[in-house]
Amino acid sequence: MAGIHVLHRHPFTPFDETPVTEAASFLAMPIPEQILPQVIGENFRHRLGTFPVDVANWLPRDAESELTIQLKRKLLESRRAEVVGLQPGGDDVAQEAAQLVSQWAGVELSGAGIDALVEASLLVADDLAVLQPVKSQDGAEQMLLNAAVVCCPSRWTLSEKMGQDMLAIHAPVAKYAEHVGGAVDTYFQRLTVDKPVWRSNWIIQDHPALFQPQIPSGQLVKTPAELWIRMERQTLRRLPATNGILFTIRGYQQPLPEYLSRSKQIAQNIRTMLERLPDDVAQYKSVLKYRPDILNWINQFC
Ligand code: HEM
Repeated sequence: MAGIHVLHRHPFTPFDETPVTEAASFLAMPIPEQILPQVIGENFRHRLGTFPVDVANWLPRDAESELTIQLKRKLLESRRAEVVGLQPGGDDVAQEAAQLVSQWAGVELSGAGIDALVEASLLVADDLAVLQPVKSQDGAEQMLLNAAVVCCPSRWTLSEKMGQDMLAIHAPVAKYAEHVGGAVDTYFQRLTVDKPVWRSNWIIQDHPALFQPQIPSGQLVKTPAELWIRMERQTLRRLPATNGILFTIRGYQQPLPEYLSRSKQIAQNIRTMLERLPDDVAQYKSVLKYRPDILNWINQFC
């Protein structure tokens, strides 16, 4: 795998490739209002933070959907091994997940198994990760990541996560196990197919590429004005025939100054959330080294 960040400002060009000339005029869409992070309580805590969503609005289209699908198409053609994952036995959950997406999009699929999931992944801008229930030796059931098409990973590598359970997948996430580890597993048992839920997360990064499986080895930019804010809208749905779970991930990026200029409230929320992040979580969110400079600079937006 190639592996060096090429510094650029085009979310739809992979992190290690050079954008085409037209990309220089790219203007990011504002991240959808509904998924912006809110300040909750007095202290930092990872939360489930799930909300119900109507099936009709499960995977909405927007001004960046087509660009995201084009990026996915290119990655599937040229770097398939990096964006598609399948564990032995994962074909059935892959196919059921693919059918759920294709029925929702109103399109017939031609392939089966993982090929169907690849086909379905091009009908929507969202990434598709499928969990499969598997019995462990002591008879307990675990949900394992056994099929996936992930073209917009935020600094994690799909092949390293395949076949793992939720705790192992989230091992690099500081405070995940103590704040939400157990709650996620119990929550999964209550999921149904007709009541999808969504949640969102945020992170500040020094590179905007949506396809960005690697963590850069050092700081990529010098000033907070060059940073980006990245958010994901994620959804969860039960797959009734296989009892698997389809987890979808849609990535958004906006230059940090443009995001903070949207309103004083938005800027104040980010300031409060940044101040509250424990150092280990700030390190995980790749913002620890930038934080003092951001906090000195952010007041002009508040
Ligand atoms: C309600 C369910 C879930 C919760 C509460 C949750 C929570 C989190 C949190 C807090 C993070 C750190 C990023 C952030 O600050 O938000 C994270 C990262 C991540 N999550 Fe989840 N997650 C959930 C479901 C899933 C599922 C189903 C997958 C399946 C693929 C998944 C895969 C990941 C991965 C790959 C990362 C990045 C890990 C890394 O940096 O290596 N999550 N998740």
